[in-house]
Amino acid sequence: MTTFPDNFLWGAATAGHQIEGNNVNSDWWARELTMPGMELSGDACDSYHRFGEDIDLLADAGLDSYRFSLEWSRIEPVPGHFSKAELAHYRRVIEHCFKRGVTPVVTLQHFTTPQWFANDGGWLAADASEKFVRYVREVTCILDGVEWVVTMNEPNMQAAIMTAMRRMQLAEGAQWQSPTVEGDGETKQNHSDFLTYADPEIGRAFTRIHHAASDVVRAHTNAKVGWTIAAGALTAAPGGEEKLLEIRFGKEDVYWEGSRGDDFVGVQAYSSQEVDANGLVPHPPHPENTLVGTAYRPDALSMAVRHAWNVTGGVPVLVTENGIATADDNQRVRYIAEALQGLHQTMAEGVDVRGYLHWSLLDNFEWGHWEPTFGLIAVDRETFVRTPKPSLARLGSIAKSNRLDVEVTA
Ligand code: BGC
Repeated sequence: MTTFPDNFLWGAATAGHQIEGNNVNSDWWARELTMPGMELSGDACDSYHRFGEDIDLLADAGLDSYRFSLEWSRIEPVPGHFSKAELAHYRRVIEHCFKRGVTPVVTLQHFTTPQWFANDGGWLAADASEKFVRYVREVTCILDGVEWVVTMNEPNMQAAIMTAMRRMQLAEGAQWQSPTVEGDGETKQNHSDFLTYADPEIGRAFTRIHHAASDVVRAHTNAKVGWTIAAGALTAAPGGEEKLLEIRFGKEDVYWEGSRGDDFVGVQAYSSQEVDANGLVPHPPHPENTLVGTAYRPDALSMAVRHAWNVTGGVPVLVTENGIATADDNQRVRYIAEALQGLHQTMAEGVDVRGYLHWSLLDNFEWGHWEPTFGLIAVDRETFVRTPKPSLARLGSIAKSNRLDVEVTA
């Protein structure tokens, strides 16, 4: 009953800046040095050098796909100059996946941009699309054999990060709080207040850039192309029905609409949140709340997948992120089982889901914060020793059997 289709992808996801270390030409690196309250990514997990070990751990556990991102700022450290050595580095990552029978899912841009791009006005500059497309054209030369390409990760979260950055610059004495981290107490309310508004025009601008990049990837590779979207799995509290529609449009639906015609859409879901007449309602305190302040809601995945399917008009879904920030790995194991039950249910209803990639393979740098641990594998940040958690074996067992009702075998 709980069997998944043949060729269903089972994997885990990461992003360059969060795991590689010393990403010194990126806009994030520059910010980390100047923004109050931001922790430094520093050496991160040193995956720039240890990617082979990371992919081996994933494959040894029984997973068959790995989502990772290319770092634009390494590949194009100054405008128009492309580093052959860095392109060769990322080709080696892809080759290592092939060697281990792992399907690479390659993200071309995951939140970070080169510092020079940010200085020139970032995504809102008139020639942003032209610059991104020039980079995308260059990287297609290393994508031979790659079947899944994500142009951009969560443009809707990138828009929220842009807003958060602007706020920091305006508010004196403000401490950095990532839009992916809700925090506690007063921070929680502020966080929900500022995330309530999202400008649909920014979504439309991102959509145009995504389509331009997708055309280039299609012209030069045989890969399936899409982007990934942060899904809030939002619901209306009594009286919040209209506000829900308004908020969800700017935060999400304009992006889901932007996926129509794509080969797949990457659904990324973690928790669910209510909207009342005033906006997003902060997650009430609860012992099961996660380390980023959100509610324990594994059902958010099925809610998000159904919503994506409806708004895109039936674009195939790849779950490109789903996970939980917790120090308790038993909670993670439970979360995965419940999220997958829900996902299986959506497939029984007819949604075309192609795979499940857990966030994240490693405990990593959560955009200015190190405390929230999302990993299937713990990483010692002094020695870089990797220690797989029971959840990795559990997800690996599910992957190997392609069904849910299995015992851990690793
Ligand atoms: C992002 C990841 C992030 C994760 C957990 C997503 O918003 O794509 O980079 O670490 O969620 O917050």
